[in-house]
Amino acid sequence: MLEIKDFPKHIGQVTDWIKEYYSTIRERKVKSEAGPGDIYNLIPPGIPQESVDFDQILEQFKSIVVPGMTHWQHPNFHAYFPANGSIESLFAEFITATLGAQCMIWDTSPAAAELEERMMEWLRDILGIPKSWTGVIQDTASSATLVALITARERATNFESNENGTPQNLRVYSSSQTHSSIEKAMGVAGMGRKNLVSIGVDDQQAMIPSELESAIISDLEGGKKPCAVVVTIGTTSTLAVDPLEQIARICEKYKVWCHVDAAYAGSALILPEYGQWMKGIEVADSFVFNPHKWLFTHFDCSVYFIKNQEELVRCFSILPAYLKTNVLGQVNDYRDWGIPLGRRFRALKLWFVLQSYGLQGLQETLRKHIQLADYLYQKLKDLPNLKMICPPRLNGVFFHYNHDEGKEMSNKITSEIHQKINATNQVYLTHTVVNDIGVIRVICGQTYLEKADIDKTIDIISRNWNHTHETIRTDVN
Ligand SMILES: Cc1ncc(COP(=O)(O)O)c(C=O)c1O
Repeated sequence: MLEIKDFPKHIGQVTDWIKEYYSTIRERKVKSEAGPGDIYNLIPPGIPQESVDFDQILEQFKSIVVPGMTHWQHPNFHAYFPANGSIESLFAEFITATLGAQCMIWDTSPAAAELEERMMEWLRDILGIPKSWTGVIQDTASSATLVALITARERATNFESNENGTPQNLRVYSSSQTHSSIEKAMGVAGMGRKNLVSIGVDDQQAMIPSELESAIISDLEGGKKPCAVVVTIGTTSTLAVDPLEQIARICEKYKVWCHVDAAYAGSALILPEYGQWMKGIEVADSFVFNPHKWLFTHFDCSVYFIKNQEELVRCFSILPAYLKTNVLGQVNDYRDWGIPLGRRFRALKLWFVLQSYGLQGLQETLRKHIQLADYLYQKLKDLPNLKMICPPRLNGVFFHYNHDEGKEMSNKITSEIHQKINATNQVYLTHTVVNDIGVIRVICGQTYLEKADIDKTIDIISRNWNHTHETIRTDVN
């Protein structure tokens, strides 16, 4: 059992490991090769009766846990969306853990509340969100979207659902490409998953506004109550962007809440060249994006902005006597701005990152990733039978094997190549399905990504692609 006085003795061991981890990350296999139960079986079934020496705990961490980890900070991790961090954010997390503060209300750590308030203003202004909006840090975009839909539900029911239960005729609309967290939120908010209406997309996988309007009209005629629309800026599958302005105008016309889910692509909105995606934001009601995905700030850090703070607080505020303070009303008590009471001090890592990079540094790093994705696209696009489903979107490239025999054969070969690439364990890619076609996705978003890392990815993809292609040709001949 360690005492405070033991700290200096062991801190060096921990930082030595961190140093070693960062300096060898490129040499590591990206994905753990552990099978189901492998790690579990290495951990004793019960708590030790006597204290285990810290040196031994650290050794066990290295020998049991590290081999069972997938290395999300590895530059050749191109799967899902990244959950990237940075040295600045790491230091802040270290300090946050040192302080060990629980920042549920202003009184429990004034600096945490006020730093959060300022960070929300900094981000709001660089994202192009109106100055009258306010923001709060949530754990994830899923939670923020749940909060948005609950607030929309309350507004649509004259703030009665929290008290009396939720009517079953409230309808929410999002494109067929929307993230699964919207459907989950429908269930959790008591509106029912079946009341999520899926709106069709165009050939760019973006929501078709006329279909949205038709669906709203049809619901109104059928006695349903349109409640909210979720607009996605940067879909999970292919980074498609819904036309915010047109959709927000429809929401305005039918008095429907407009929530913008920019969980991943939101970071790109600090680049003036993508500012047009935010046209119409002033007509929307809420917006979420995750600095913990692509703004070099460790998980978890999701930022939620809202036009009408009073509506939010009215939904989530519960004031037992033990939480009443004498500064009530003068400060932000963020426990009233979301679901959990307890809150981590997440603003510190944002502050460290935003200051250390500065706006220019953030923009340069994002642009570098976007350029590297374009470079990868140019190098891969002429591979035999490779079909890109669209030009690169931000830092994402999406392609599949296009076989003359049609979708089934194309899917089989794409999947085969994908598996071979991942089996090298030198890069990690995930897939999606677009119009029944299996598609490989490559996201180039790791904080310290370099051209040499992308060259490695290009080489591994090309070698496996060409080899599979040649094998097919030989089989046919
Ligand atoms: C568009 C979109 N929305 C929401 C989410 C959910 O994010 P979180 O894991 O923060 O809940 C994701 C995750 O990738 C996403 O891509």
